[in-house]
Amino acid sequence: MEGGYEPALHVEPERPPVNDALTDAPLLTVSGYSIVYDVEPPVQAVRDVTLTLHRGEILGLAGESGSGKTTLAYGIQRLLRPPAVITAGSVVFHDEDGTHVDINALDVKALQRFRWDKVSMVFQGAMNALNPVADIGSQLEDVFTVHRPGMRRRERKAAIAELLDLVGVGSERARSYAHELSGGMRQRVMIAMALALRPQLMVMDEPTTALDVLVQREILQKISELRHQFGFSVIFITHDLPLLLEISDRIAVMKDGAIVELATAEDLYRSPQHPYTRRLLSSFPSLTGARGAYAGRTGSSQENA
Ligand SMILES: Nc1ncnc2c1ncn2[C@@H]1O[C@H](COP(=O)(O)OP(=O)(O)O)[C@@H](O)[C@H]1O
Ligand SMILES: [Mg+2]
Repeated sequence: MEGGYEPALHVEPERPPVNDALTDAPLLTVSGYSIVYDVEPPVQAVRDVTLTLHRGEILGLAGESGSGKTTLAYGIQRLLRPPAVITAGSVVFHDEDGTHVDINALDVKALQRFRWDKVSMVFQGAMNALNPVADIGSQLEDVFTVHRPGMRRRERKAAIAELLDLVGVGSERARSYAHELSGGMRQRVMIAMALALRPQLMVMDEPTTALDVLVQREILQKISELRHQFGFSVIFITHDLPLLLEISDRIAVMKDGAIVELATAEDLYRSPQHPYTRRLLSSFPSLTGARGAYAGRTGSSQENA
């Protein structure tokens, strides 16, 4: 499926470029991965998924509700709970320090370090998950207190201010409570939290679905900017294909737990191979009209000017 993929830039994996984060170095290799919900009757939510995510890449995961996107994303981070069972396959994380981490083999302690530090997640509906009785600064601070116990208070405060500025919330908002912020601002706080420990991969599950189109666009632009600044990779999940076409380097289309097509955003739009992809594309009127509706991406990003 990846035959046609030409990375835009070849760079040394150990030095992520500042301005163009995409490389051909693998960050995550998923092989023959399957997940079943052990209920009656059993649900095969993820079927024999094989894919490679590259360092600095934004990989879009598309597919209708129920196609297995969230289950796959959880599986990759070992966030699944019973009745979910990983029945086959492996997920290997290629750390920037050169080690390869078999995620299925991590024990609980190693998993705790792995999450947040190496991979972080913005959950579906995350913006409603902020604690209503603590200000956002102290919720960000918790991440450092737990994962960077050696940090001094002053360093934590500085890091929080920097994060809030980075995501466009503004450090002056550190003492605000969730209810004082708009949905878009709350979602930016969640992104700040996911960014806190400078992970190499951010998994975002429908991060902008509940937001209006304008706010959604601003947040996507911010994610794209941050990705170029820090060189992390993103798995971006949404049923909103037009959105994915704009933000993704490549897109994987899921149907009934399987990846039926994986291509660059441009190829997927211009010559979708699978009938399901064509059906998915045609279900968005904004895409089927003028061809110009899709601005396209060629690997280097113009939108963060
Ligand atoms: N806890 C669960 N128990 C049983 N089935 C589940 C559970 N969670 C999800 N599923 C099923 O797994 C399939 C994939 O779901 P999900 O990963 O949430 O899809 P998506 O994120 O693409 O909407 C669906 O058929 C869903 O009903
Ligand atoms: Mg989902």
